[in-house]
Amino acid sequence: MGTTPTFPTLTVVRHPLVQHKLRLLRDRETPTKIFKELVDEIAMLMAYEATADLALEDAAVDTPLERTIGRRVAGKKLTLVPILRAGLGMVEGVLRLVPSARVGHIGLYRDHDTLEPVDYYFKVPGDAAERDFVVLDPMLATGGSAVSAVSSLKKAGATRIRFLCLVAAPEGVRRLADAHPDVGVFAASLDRELHAQGYILPGLGDAGDRLFGTR
Ligand code: PRP
Ligand code: URA
Repeated sequence: MGTTPTFPTLTVVRHPLVQHKLRLLRDRETPTKIFKELVDEIAMLMAYEATADLALEDAAVDTPLERTIGRRVAGKKLTLVPILRAGLGMVEGVLRLVPSARVGHIGLYRDHDTLEPVDYYFKVPGDAAERDFVVLDPMLATGGSAVSAVSSLKKAGATRIRFLCLVAAPEGVRRLADAHPDVGVFAASLDRELHAQGYILPGLGDAGDRLFGTR
């Protein structure tokens, strides 16, 4: 893992398996089926890092020999919030690590001309103030979608939010940090830049289209 002084909210997950799979994900020749599997696997590996600071509490456990004190994750169930559509591709991978997590949904798409997010759906558990949230979206590009998703969660009462993506652009990390400096961002890569149409360079193309075969 690594944080950079220029982007204090960002943690880049540099685990060799994550980096190996990310290169395959970027490959334009990778077919939909494999792309989906790679997103799932990377999300699972990154979730391990992104949950490293969850609060623990003591809890008794009876082994076959005696009672002892173990540790368990404290508080209400973790809540995953994929941003539709592409964030859906990350849900199952994270759930494999945290099977009891709840899943909310935020529906957003980028307007093709303005690149600003348009929201169309929002559903998360009612007791948001008491939960840890992990927002899932493979791409953090201009940051508009991420800022909007986090703002909606905060409006619903959430106070503990992290953002898990695969590829981030410097512009997006900056915009999210300016709007929500309390939100930690985990990415497999901080890429070079955005191009004029708002795609990340070198990036991996349109994550939603590549996941769902709608290119
Ligand atoms: C993509 C991506 C993010 C957003 C990132 O979604 O999955 O949600 O763009 O861009 P931003 O940081 O500039 O807001 P898109 O709007 O293409 O919708 P989709 O997931 O339905 O394909
Ligand atoms: N959304 C994507 O799917 N890819 C990008 O490069 C930018 C936004």
